[in-house]
Amino acid sequence: MAIDKKIGIILASTRYVRQGLGVANYIHGLVEPLAAKAGVSIDIIDLADHPLPFYDEPAYPMMLPKDNPSPHYINSYAKKWSTIISQYHAYIFVTPEYNGSIPAVLKNALDHLFHEWRGKPVGIVSYGTAGGARASVHLAEILSIFKVNTVATKVTFKSSPKAHDFYVAAKAPQPEDVQRWKDDGSEGAVGVMVAEILGSLLG
Ligand SMILES: Cc1cc2nc3c(=O)[nH]c(=O)nc-3n(C[C@H](O)[C@H](O)[C@H](O)COP(=O)(O)O)c2cc1C
Repeated sequence: MAIDKKIGIILASTRYVRQGLGVANYIHGLVEPLAAKAGVSIDIIDLADHPLPFYDEPAYPMMLPKDNPSPHYINSYAKKWSTIISQYHAYIFVTPEYNGSIPAVLKNALDHLFHEWRGKPVGIVSYGTAGGARASVHLAEILSIFKVNTVATKVTFKSSPKAHDFYVAAKAPQPEDVQRWKDDGSEGAVGVMVAEILGSLLG
């Protein structure tokens, strides 16, 4: 089957020692076979690999030409970020909760662009000590500005703070957390979320 649609998993935690890479790898492992069956490819877009200074563009991203905004940014890093995000047809945000919201690095990455996000299907996965539900709600509110299609099923993973070292070393969640996510339905919710994204993407 020809693969011409791409989903980007956007990893919103950038600190060197983080649980986020383990969570994103786990989500990738769940989503990849479901997406491949539908002829859709999937990549992790790690914000740590795309460092952006705080937003500093003279033009509002929403005022740039909607069909091809990338060349119209002033800063080379913004042009590059725009080009990367434009290549994807849908996104799954994987975000921790920091002080009741999303990390500043994710807000900054969102603020840099507008048309690149607009109208595309989006899934939200949050994680953290309490599952990151407040970050998930805030992210959905922000994304509504871009008129994306945030799918109904939001996934929250309660991750164990005591397992931090395991996540960092293994780049994967600790097995006890994975078992809990199977038992509490969080893992199953990923499949529902992906079906909703694929339904929106492929019609
Ligand atoms: C600065 C900071 C603020 C946090 N605030 C919250 C919070 O408001 N609610 C929560 O449930 N967990 C909170 N946590 C716990 C994180 O969600 C948890 O440590 C998660 O693993 C962080 O993701 P990361 O390791 O990928 O950065 C916070 C952690 C940090 C570092």
